[in-house]
Amino acid sequence: MDRLRLLGDSPSPLHPAGSEAHQLANVWWIMFGIAVAVYLVVGGLIVISSVRGRRREPIEGPSRHDDYFIWIGGLLVPALILIFVAFLTVHTGAALRAPSKNALAVRVVGHEWWWEVEYPGRNVVTANELHVPVGQPLEITLDSADVVHSFWVPELAGKEDLIPGQHNVLRFTVRRAGVFRGVCAEFCGLEHAKMGFRVIAVSPGDFAIWLAHEQHVTTVPDSELAARGELAFTSNDCAGCHTVRGTTADGSLGPDLTDVGSRARIGAESLDNTASNLRRWIENPGDVKSGVKMPPATISSDDVRAIVAYLQGLK
Ligand code: CUA
Repeated sequence: MDRLRLLGDSPSPLHPAGSEAHQLANVWWIMFGIAVAVYLVVGGLIVISSVRGRRREPIEGPSRHDDYFIWIGGLLVPALILIFVAFLTVHTGAALRAPSKNALAVRVVGHEWWWEVEYPGRNVVTANELHVPVGQPLEITLDSADVVHSFWVPELAGKEDLIPGQHNVLRFTVRRAGVFRGVCAEFCGLEHAKMGFRVIAVSPGDFAIWLAHEQHVTTVPDSELAARGELAFTSNDCAGCHTVRGTTADGSLGPDLTDVGSRARIGAESLDNTASNLRRWIENPGDVKSGVKMPPATISSDDVRAIVAYLQGLK
């Protein structure tokens, strides 16, 4: 529940903040309008006919007027409506995801059950958070490390699957700043429901600052406790699965933790990123996400405390 509260109400495709979601919402409203009109006309005719009843006794068989009514109202009008909707759908589908110049490349890799986020050629890797500039076209390449996942940020774009061995590309432009909730929209195993992420859209200037900062994240511990934490992190199992750039920790099974201290949530939107939650996560991640691949910690609680201090400083 706290996740929903944090990001406001559940995200709706009918409150679009991205170019693709805008187009999809337009199609939806037009189809909704047609459906309402048809409902009112047909329902109205039923009401009128049942209230009014027959004006006169029927003559022999149906009249010519009845024939016209059936051919036009029952065949021609529905056919025209369906042709229009088909045209609208195909036209919108073709306009979506057209390549654009000066697009920002982002690579997203789906894992059971978290998102790897990479900015190719910029030496920036993070997890479960996509930082993007407002107004610049995005070209998001979607890959999977294991099974089929689906990338869905309802307020920004439609769903796009991440399929092992296939590069899918999602293109859209974010139109207003904000934090947008994303989910995995394809059942992918035990913790599919806890495979959340967020898109943080900021001004192009703020994005440039963020990107430059990420390229030079300081990984030097700022306290004795954190220094002890770094030693515990790099000399224990942690380093076998996680990377912290600038240290000997270069594992690739779990999320890159170089900037973990700056993230809002941990465990793919499972928990707020606080010291007590980090501790809880490290000591027994299965307690939070029962299918998680990270094993419970086998280190002393003093070491866990030190590692938490270290991780919080990585930002
Ligand atoms: Cu990944 Cu569902």
